[in-house]
Amino acid sequence: MKTGICLLLLWEMCLGMNTSSVKTRMPEKNKEHFLSKKQTFSISEEHFHHKNIPKPFEVQVPLESTVYNVTEKSTNFGFNLYRKIAMQHDNNVLFSPLSLSFLMAAFMLGTKGETNNQIVQGLNLHLLKDKENPYHLPALFKQLKENITANEEFILQQGSFAFIQKDFCLNESFLNLSKEYFDMEFRSVDFNNSTQAKEVINQNVNKMTKGKIQELFEDFDTHAKLVLVDYVFFKGKWIHPFNARLTEPEFFHIDKYRSVQVPMMFKSDKVASTFDENLRCTVVKLPYKGRVHLLIAVPEKEGDYVSLEDHLTAELVELWLRNMKTRKIDFFLPKFKLDQNYQMHKLLQTLGIKNLFTNQADLSQLTDQMYARVSQVIQRAVIEVDERGTEAAAASGSEMTAYSVPPTIRVNRPFLFMVFEETFKTLIFMGRVVNPTEL
Ligand SMILES: *[C@@H]1O[C@H](CO)[C@@H](O)[C@H](O)[C@H]1NC(C)=O
Ligand SMILES: *[C@@H]1O[C@H](CO)[C@@H](O)[C@H](O)[C@H]1NC(C)=O
Ligand SMILES: *[C@@H]1O[C@H](CO)[C@@H](O)[C@H](O)[C@H]1NC(C)=O
Ligand SMILES: *[C@@H]1O[C@H](CO)[C@@H](O)[C@H](O)[C@H]1NC(C)=O
Ligand SMILES: *[C@@H]1O[C@H](CO)[C@@H](O)[C@H](O)[C@H]1NC(C)=O
Ligand SMILES: *[C@@H]1O[C@H](CO)[C@@H](O)[C@H](O)[C@H]1NC(C)=O
Ligand SMILES: *[C@@H]1O[C@H](CO)[C@@H](O)[C@H](O)[C@H]1NC(C)=O
Repeated sequence: MKTGICLLLLWEMCLGMNTSSVKTRMPEKNKEHFLSKKQTFSISEEHFHHKNIPKPFEVQVPLESTVYNVTEKSTNFGFNLYRKIAMQHDNNVLFSPLSLSFLMAAFMLGTKGETNNQIVQGLNLHLLKDKENPYHLPALFKQLKENITANEEFILQQGSFAFIQKDFCLNESFLNLSKEYFDMEFRSVDFNNSTQAKEVINQNVNKMTKGKIQELFEDFDTHAKLVLVDYVFFKGKWIHPFNARLTEPEFFHIDKYRSVQVPMMFKSDKVASTFDENLRCTVVKLPYKGRVHLLIAVPEKEGDYVSLEDHLTAELVELWLRNMKTRKIDFFLPKFKLDQNYQMHKLLQTLGIKNLFTNQADLSQLTDQMYARVSQVIQRAVIEVDERGTEAAAASGSEMTAYSVPPTIRVNRPFLFMVFEETFKTLIFMGRVVNPTEL
């Protein structure tokens, strides 16, 4: 399979229950009654297979904020979160702001009050929130997803699973809404049998990620009632691929003192780039077929990426793109593969999303179970960048006969990268390569 880039990403969320208090509130003899109460909804097999849930109401999207506003705000959320991750991790970084936004946005439907405000604010969407219509933002996310996943020249799949304890009660309208706006797939699991629960979840994840992630969970908290898994899968082809025959081992300078040998890809080709005089970095844009590109920002001096990270905003990226000039260059880029996972619940708390993870969580739109809270959010992402991406892999080799020596851009020191979808300027992935020989 020829792929220029291949990414995927997974989420794990556990809805932790304060079991001691649940037990006191739900003595065994009342349980039947509790579960069959009118307003609560017990998951039944038919419901999982129900495909066409009708729209519960008409969605009015006010003109003043659009998908473009959402992606701009989400990009800045991505950069804010990136800085939090970068502060706590010295090495390579990779995550998907897009997927995290989708996952947390689904929780806007399940929460109320301060818990909800914190999510909206943490996602940097507070200026877009429509007080009259709580479905305004979900509708924009839905529109975004439908649009960017409909492209035929690359594959972008994003989705979410909800694995629910067999006897756990969810608010039926939450169930319908999360399916309607965020395409959540529901599966019933018996977390009491953690062996079986693990099997069911891993099987589903394995299937949706086409085998890229086979083993997501090692073990479960047997008190878990709801586990959400979210994935993104992107497969694109370079418009102008690298010729694998020109890839050679070369040194990559991690810092002043350390170097590693990496497979360095090469092409002599027309490439769009710019040099940022203020931040002293070179920015290169490599397009995939369809409307997606990889943006690479390389500081002039190795180890200088920290000041660059501090300045990242959607506006700065816009400025870079506006200043880009396309010219023929000799371009060197290391092949790399990253595989990262983060305890996002800890990072989200530093962005102000706190109540969701405590007993103060107001998940009353999701369940009427007392003391429900989210105990874990884990994201796993994998990216592979290599020469491949098209059948015409040798195309750039012929350009080697140029008479004048073109300028050279050599990515042989730590760099930042972003994967943007261009129609809505959506930041799909964001990361940093400090050492290409590590995952
Ligand atoms: C569970 O809820 C009870 C009742 O509010 C509280 O006293 C207790 O500290 C909680 N336990 C945990 C582990 O959060
Ligand atoms: C949405 O974006 C448009 C165009 O950039 C801008 O004019 C408008 O003020 C934005 N709306 C909000 C609510 O930020
Ligand atoms: C996506 O949105 C853009 C801009 O609004 C539009 O031109 C394009 O046709 C849409 N594509 C799909 C598949 O909906
Ligand atoms: C949820 O969807 C089901 C199946 O379409 C429907 O029968 C039910 O009325 C919906 N419930 C609510 C509360 O919207
Ligand atoms: C799971 O275990 C709990 C307590 O051990 C029990 O009350 C509940 O009925 C069990 N659920 C299922 C589906 O077996
Ligand atoms: C748990 O599930 C596994 C696999 O489905 C099954 O073999 C085993 O008997 C179950 N254990 C219990 C205690 O139900
Ligand atoms: C379910 O959620 C809806 C809003 O999404 C709310 O109006 C309703 O009261 C909730 N039902 C229960 C039983 O909590």
